[in-house]
Amino acid sequence: MSYKVKDIKLAPEGKRVIDWAQAHMPVLAQIRKEISKTKPLKGLTVGAALHTEAKTAVLVRTLVAGGAKVAITSCNPLSTKDDVAASLAREGVNIYAWRGETNKEYYANLNKILDFTPDILIDDGADLIYLVHTKRTELIGKVIGGAEETTTGVIRLRAMEKDGVLKFPVFAVNDSYSKHFFDNRFGTAESTFQAITTTTNTLIAGKKVVVVGFGFVGRGIASRARGLGAKVAVVETDPVKALEAVMDGYDVETMDEAAKRGDIFITTTGNLKVIRAEHMKKMHDGAILCNSGHFNVEIDILGLEKISVSKKEVLQDVLEYKMKDGRRIHLLTEGRLVNLAGARALGHPMEIMDMSFALQAMSAVLLAQRGKKMKPKVYRVPEEIDVRVTELKLKSLGVNVEKITPEQKKYLESWKEGT
Ligand code: ADE
Repeated sequence: MSYKVKDIKLAPEGKRVIDWAQAHMPVLAQIRKEISKTKPLKGLTVGAALHTEAKTAVLVRTLVAGGAKVAITSCNPLSTKDDVAASLAREGVNIYAWRGETNKEYYANLNKILDFTPDILIDDGADLIYLVHTKRTELIGKVIGGAEETTTGVIRLRAMEKDGVLKFPVFAVNDSYSKHFFDNRFGTAESTFQAITTTTNTLIAGKKVVVVGFGFVGRGIASRARGLGAKVAVVETDPVKALEAVMDGYDVETMDEAAKRGDIFITTTGNLKVIRAEHMKKMHDGAILCNSGHFNVEIDILGLEKISVSKKEVLQDVLEYKMKDGRRIHLLTEGRLVNLAGARALGHPMEIMDMSFALQAMSAVLLAQRGKKMKPKVYRVPEEIDVRVTELKLKSLGVNVEKITPEQKKYLESWKEGT
């Protein structure tokens, strides 16, 4: 076992938050109970690049209970919780992660995980899998397969598949219903506002919140912003999504229009430079910019630097850029995903990550069982696993679902006249 963390003395506090999360993740608990008996991951090394925070540590404990050796780093230079990392190190996990890694350290840590010659990769954003396919190609043939957590990672992997370069099977965990319907929508919405308000202490009610992008993440954030009393505008390039936002009752505006009126801007597109200098020039004094997409490319920070005359950290995770005319723009967490990169950001609620990480644990088991026979493609997690996660969650919530009658089932399966 080896590790590099910020301060191993933080382990006791890390253990408390991991234990708290574990006690609120019943679906993952059920999977852990099962695989700790059968040990399907025995003899295998799982290499992971995941936001190293409390819920992730519960996934790591689950993989270890299933027999795996785990080596983990973070998938973002700012998202590691140092107490959690210390606790994982104390628990015997190979971990190379700390909050505030430089770019060089970030890549060195990813490489360090690959030095453990993992059989299975668990990724969030596809940086680890990308590295294997570019600079660490000696591992191709050794890696059985991977599992990807997020939309951005799945998009990258599908592009690799399309270009014929993907060399092993990967489960697109993100595409499971029990993931993106809940994690992307409800999880990101709550974690984004948790992070914005604990970082800035700003009021949301009465503010004009501009949500850029109206996918699952954008929809969730727009809905929560409205629930908190904000006036919500949506910026979207896809006409169908834009129309959906209109009929959901939001103002749909171009970025140019929204720039003049917005108080808080939240990007959720997965695309680059959706807020540019030309927009920032129109923003009012004190506008807050933040991003909830995976990479820090959505807000054009270089553009912001060019049009500003000074920059200072006025508060932890808040950079204040001053324009020539005295206007100030406040950028949160350097444009990195605000719901995880903030020092006080907690990531998605425990009950949400319970489902996402149950899918990850089961995907790892599937790869151990049948990965060697699978083609190098991007796969959906099998439907029965998706359904199982949903049913376990409902059970944990004490919710009973109405049962379809045999007559109703027959009716739905019949093509004959309905009368
Ligand atoms: N916690 C761990 N991974 C996360 C993710 N991808 N999104 C939100 N919270 C998380």
